[in-house]
Amino acid sequence: MKLRLKVFRYDPATGKEGYDTFELRCEEGMTFLSALQKIKEEMDPTLTFRHFCRAGICGTCTVYINSFPKLACREQVLPYALTGKEVVLEPLDKFPVIKDLAVDHDSVILKLKEFRSWIQDFKGDVRIPPEISLRVEKAADCILCSACQSYCPQVLEEDYAGPLIFAKIYRFLEDPRETCKDIRLTDAVREGRLYHCLSCNKCNNVCPKEVEPATLIRELMTYIRGDGEENS
Ligand code: SF4
Ligand code: SF4
Ligand code: FES
Repeated sequence: MKLRLKVFRYDPATGKEGYDTFELRCEEGMTFLSALQKIKEEMDPTLTFRHFCRAGICGTCTVYINSFPKLACREQVLPYALTGKEVVLEPLDKFPVIKDLAVDHDSVILKLKEFRSWIQDFKGDVRIPPEISLRVEKAADCILCSACQSYCPQVLEEDYAGPLIFAKIYRFLEDPRETCKDIRLTDAVREGRLYHCLSCNKCNNVCPKEVEPATLIRELMTYIRGDGEENS
């Protein structure tokens, strides 16, 4: 079975951008990352994309596949090839393209620093009850793949922190070792524009790790109303 891939290309040296189409044989168990590697090895060594773990853990290989952000190393090509239609691969939307499918993640890194994505005032030897641990783990499962951040319609607003950042704020707010909970909530509302979230759930739908950022955002809003006191 043949797989036709239409891949976005951008050459920073010339500023030229467009699409190249590649046709390759679909192999059993082939992912989009292995398809890209095959193209790079056998057809076009200049094709540029990011990857590292090949196991859905590092979050570096996210690309748009037919307009949806997906981890290239996890997404199987077979269901797409079975349709017989060309598949379009593009870089993450709302991120500056460095070359082809590789984008610049600096905006996320800067925001992670701005919102201090670490425990700010660590008080050691705190017992973490299992139910709280479960909630922290869910948010901590985020692999920083930026799928949600790219797909969120509100991220176009310059001051909106975005689902990835709110998932991190929630993660540290829930952690009993964190004592700066009020500062986190103030940051989320004032600096992150928490209430600009449309609750559209797009971020929940594209998250490959089921972190459910939109659900966590709604829980942050519950905290602010005071209903979350019993959880702290
Ligand atoms: S639910 Fe909120 S954060 Fe998630 S995609 Fe929609 S606007 Fe963005
Ligand atoms: S919350 Fe999910 S989609 Fe967003 S960056 Fe983390 S793992 Fe990726
Ligand atoms: S290569 Fe690490 S998540 Fe895909």
